Amino acid sequence: MDVAAQNGRDGAGLGPRHVAIIMDGNGRWAQSRGRPRLFGHHAGARRVREIVECCPDFGVKYLTIFAFSTENWKRTQVEVAGLMSLFRRYISKEMTALADKNVRVRFIGDRPRLDAKLVALMDRLEEKTAENDGTHLTIALNYGGRDEVARATKRLAQDVANGSLDPESVDEETLPKYLDTCVLPDPDLVIRTSGEARISNFLLWQSAYAEYEFIDTLWPDFTAEEMGRLCAKFGTRDRRFGGVKT
Ligand code: IPE
Ligand code: IPE
Ligand code: MG
Repeated sequence: MDVAAQNGRDGAGLGPRHVAIIMDGNGRWAQSRGRPRLFGHHAGARRVREIVECCPDFGVKYLTIFAFSTENWKRTQVEVAGLMSLFRRYISKEMTALADKNVRVRFIGDRPRLDAKLVALMDRLEEKTAENDGTHLTIALNYGGRDEVARATKRLAQDVANGSLDPESVDEETLPKYLDTCVLPDPDLVIRTSGEARISNFLLWQSAYAEYEFIDTLWPDFTAEEMGRLCAKFGTRDRRFGGVKT
């Protein structure tokens, strides 16, 4: 399929249908206030609600947020444990509000490394919101783009080995069916807060033709207003997908 058609948006005056956000800068936000990094993570988690709720105002149907990467295990045990406990608390606390606001929640990432209690809450939130058809919120938790492609490739290879997939038929449309994001459209706009201009292993395959915004705002300071500004700016971009505009 043509990438532009697949993505659904060519930027011609339209806002992004799928926005993906690398929520970065919680640690620096806390440190600038002389507080521990976890204080910043808690402030960051509190920002999520406003951003999820503003999506319909800007025509954003899919929102994907990067909460914890496969590389974030390198952090101190205190920070990792604090984050895992925050994720459990966030899910329990937001479960009813998300369900009532017609948000459909999905998680992407490698679940087996996460603790069983957290995975049970993730499953419950997915089940509880499975019938919702408002904003599609995807939370990337223990997610890494390379890890996702490796896991997808393993399953694809298993299908070749068991005879259900003909290797000759493998093309650009085959691998995405094995990715965690198989039911989602590709992101149109990827935003990274905190001033870093890198993607840190986020949605590597899916962002091949995404537009990027690297902004200095630290995640706990990111607002619906800024989201709206970036969505409007997206509408002015000329997305060519390798072609030439006539
Ligand atoms: C992003 O904020 C949240 C996670 C990676 C879990 P950081 O914790 O990376 O904040 P900085 O980049 O150190 O400021
Ligand atoms: C990316 O931020 C991961 C998340 C926002 C969850 P990091 O802070 O982990 O990325 P690096 O280390 O600056 O590349
Ligand atoms: Mg960071």
